[in-house]
Amino acid sequence: MDAHAAAYSSSARPVRIAVLASGAGSNFRVLLRHSLEDDLGGGQIVCLLSDKPLSGAALHAAATDLPYYAETHKAHGGRAGWEQAALQFLQSQRVDFIVLAGYMRLIGGTLLTPYEGRMINIHPSLLPAFPGLDAPAQALAARAAETGVTVHYVDAGLDTGEVIAQRVVAIHEFDTLESLTARIHSAEHELYPSVVSAICASKMGRKQDIKEQ
Ligand code: GRF
Repeated sequence: MDAHAAAYSSSARPVRIAVLASGAGSNFRVLLRHSLEDDLGGGQIVCLLSDKPLSGAALHAAATDLPYYAETHKAHGGRAGWEQAALQFLQSQRVDFIVLAGYMRLIGGTLLTPYEGRMINIHPSLLPAFPGLDAPAQALAARAAETGVTVHYVDAGLDTGEVIAQRVVAIHEFDTLESLTARIHSAEHELYPSVVSAICASKMGRKQDIKEQ
């Protein structure tokens, strides 16, 4: 058992979670609500990071007094500089585990190496179908009968990490992008807290530890 797994094994210590988000932040809000209600398998959302200072997610963190780091990549001369500053913030908050919730960028080595196997993402399709941007629109354009939601570990690729859980969402004949996106969001808001809870309840974050159970 490595140092991180050992830390998770202490029943007195919650799994300290950071959320990374660039957008409206509906998944962040749902996760934060579960955390505040002590309903995240012993996990606790301790901070938010965003590359969009005026995103809904960043504004919600500010409004709720959650510690947050919200600066543009440009302000740090690009991804590597941003991730270096983000890593310092994560370490200052003693973050064990990172949950991406609409963070619309690839993660570079500066964050991936220290958090490898301890970082998950949610994507609005049944991966490997429809990776990348605008997944609900891709599903509609492909005239797929169904799409869904995937929670997966983060690796260096675009939505390529190992799948943890999926939920199917039907596509109806008269679905618009708005109606389908709303149904996908509802599925995300159920699936993501349940997956984060299961990981935290296991008191371990690394995928090899989870598999060994
Ligand atoms: C979600 O659909 C998620 O799957 C994708 O980005 C969207 C974020 O939505 N990665 P929100 O900001 O949580 O409302």
